[in-house]
Order: sequence, then C-alpha cells, then structure tokens
Amino acid sequence: MTTTTDLPLLFLGQGADPASERGVDCPGDLPAASDPALVERARAAKAALGDSVFILGHHYQRDEVIQFADVTGDSFKLARDAAARPDAPHIVFCGVHFMAESADILTTAEQKVILPDLAAGCSMADMATFDQVEDCWDALADAGIADRVVPVTYMNSSADIKGFVGRRGGVVCTSSNAKRALDWAFARGEQVLFLPDQHLGRNTAVLEMGMTLEDCVVYNPRRPNGGLTVEQLRNAKMILWQGHCSVHGRFTRASVEEVRARVPGVNVLVHPECRHDVVTGADYVGSTEYIIRALEAAEPGSAWAIGTELNLVKRLANAHPDKNVMFLDKAVCFCSTMNRIDLPHLVWALESLVRGEVPNQITVDADTAHYARVALDQMLALP
Ligand code: 13P
Ligand code: SF4
Repeated sequence: MTTTTDLPLLFLGQGADPASERGVDCPGDLPAASDPALVERARAAKAALGDSVFILGHHYQRDEVIQFADVTGDSFKLARDAAARPDAPHIVFCGVHFMAESADILTTAEQKVILPDLAAGCSMADMATFDQVEDCWDALADAGIADRVVPVTYMNSSADIKGFVGRRGGVVCTSSNAKRALDWAFARGEQVLFLPDQHLGRNTAVLEMGMTLEDCVVYNPRRPNGGLTVEQLRNAKMILWQGHCSVHGRFTRASVEEVRARVPGVNVLVHPECRHDVVTGADYVGSTEYIIRALEAAEPGSAWAIGTELNLVKRLANAHPDKNVMFLDKAVCFCSTMNRIDLPHLVWALESLVRGEVPNQITVDADTAHYARVALDQMLALP
C-alpha cells in the first residue's frame, strides 16, 4: 500500500519543518548583506579560528562564499574530504543539508558539522521520504521481488533514506560513481531500486550499462503500488523513483538544438541529472568535477554550452577567458537552496564559532547514522 504525504508549502527561510530538508528560521542575528566589511569579517573570523575550522564548499556555491572554502568539490569529493580531516573540531559545510548530514556521518563523534543556513535543503532529496520508501519496499515485497532488489540511493537523499538503503544491503552513489555503484548492485541482485533521481538512474542504466528504456520503470510514490502493475515491477531491471532535480530538470532538448544552431561547433556538456533526451543530445555528460576537468582540458578558442548550475558555469566562464563558455539555457537559474548560503550566513556562522557558540549543528541520530554509514562506506570502497 502506498500512502501519499502531502507537504504544505513553506517559504524558504520561514517556518520550521525539521522532518524534511525544507526551510527553517535562521536563529541568529545576521549581519546586513550591505555591510561593506563582510569580506574582512569572514577573513578575520576564519583567521581567528585557524585549524579548528575546516570549510567545505560545493561547486554550486556563490563566489562570495567559495572564496573562503578550504576545499571545493562535488558531493563525492566533499564526502571524502570531510572524512579526511578528523583533526578539525568544526566543519562548516557550504552546501546543502543532505551533504552536511553525510559529513556528520563520516566524521568523528567529536567533530561538529555546521550548515550556515538551515534553509539550504534540496527539493530532490525531499521527493523521497522515509515513509514513502518503506511503502515502496512493501510493494516490492508484495510483488515477491524484495529479496532480489538492491536499493541504490543517490547522495542527494536524506540520512533516513541512506540508512534505509544501508539496512537492506544497498549502496550510496554520486554522479561520479553511479555506474560503479550499479555494477556492484547488479553483482548482488537482479533488480535495482534507484532513489531519488530518476534521470541519473535512467541515464546511467541506458547510456553506461547497456540497458534499454524498457528495462526501466518509474515508481510514483503518490500512487498505489507506485502506479505500476506487479508484472511491471517484476520485469523491470531498474525501478526508478519519480524524483528529479528542479534545476537540471529544466534543461530541454530544444535548448540543445538552439545552441547548436546558434554556435557552430559548440560542445554541449551536461550533468547526468538532466533529462534523458537532453543527455542523449549532448556531446559529453558527467558530474561537476568531470565538467570542470573537461573545461580545463579544452582547446583555447573552443565553445562550450554547459548544462548545470549557474554559479559553476559563471565561475568556469571567468576561469577560462580563452574559451567561449556559455550557459545551456537562459531560462534555467541558480539552485535557490544552494544560494541560501551567502556571505552574511557564513560570517554569522564563523563569528558564532569565534564566540564559542556552535550554530546550526547538523546531527544524525546514532541508529540512522550507523546504517547510512554502511551504505556510504560501501560507496567509498567501490572498486
Ligand atoms: P554532484 O556534486 O555529484 O555533481 O551533484 C550535483 C548536485 O546536484 C549537487 O546537489
Ligand atoms: Fe538539489 Fe538540484 Fe539544488 Fe543539487 S542542484 S541541491 S540536486 S535542487
């Protein structure tokens, strides 16, 4: 039986919903965004904290924040980087909530992980709640296939979902290791339940694993039995959760055609969270780290239309003035939750630490953390 969880609308940064990745109030007195001393304040607070703070910055963060990151990376690299600094008592995570949760799980019990704005959630992660995933597993059990399905969850999911997957012998993946995670899963079972990004699951299965679109079905958590027949569930190789990224999901095949017509010889490079027809129309597909490396290796004078978050594309365009770097679609914008972490929130978080206060600590309960770690460690150990 599938239940429907209807989520009331919350405005970002207002109201409270600790059970989800969505917005909650910032408890502190934020400095004004217009304060001309913000950069200097951040610099001074970071210097005062020295090695006691380690600042991680995801590639989709604003420039004003990324300049203070000790390391930058995609979600895979940041998970590894967080685990590699057991000596830093405070980890300030400039990214979104699920990344900070993973950092908490992968760091020692003494380390405290701080998310400068608790409203920095992820709409994709919110598309798979624990209850919905449990209902789905019940549907798989009713169809007689739960023991041959291996769950694989994208990093972009809550700790609850990672814990669910760890409890059932599955693995976490990111956009840079999804194929290796699926190889691992298919060596242990005949079918995969892929959470929560249908596009990453489909693109990896079809473009990298030799499956067909017919091998994939989409499980809609809002419909009884996911909107699928028992036969469809039994015959699918990939059971894709009906979730998507609200940023990457907006790129269209029409924007690919349009840029090819407008810029002869352009290279189209997109993230695998984009829709399947966008990815099949592109020349290259890969995670944010892959996109950065592709631009570094590109010939001077070459043209690149990039389908990923705008902060990263703008940074790449600035870093490569000898190449023609453009955004794939003018209608697609920043990730609004990544953008929640701005300089006032970072200054507030760092200055709170200087005063001996720990703001916005992200903690995962011990039982969830244990099983989520099983699935995360399995990812970190993928061949
Ligand atoms: P990666 O960091 O794995 O490329 O994922 C992109 C993303 O959407 C992060 O929220
Ligand atoms: Fe979530 Fe997409 Fe934003 Fe990443 S870019 S945090 S997947 S909404």
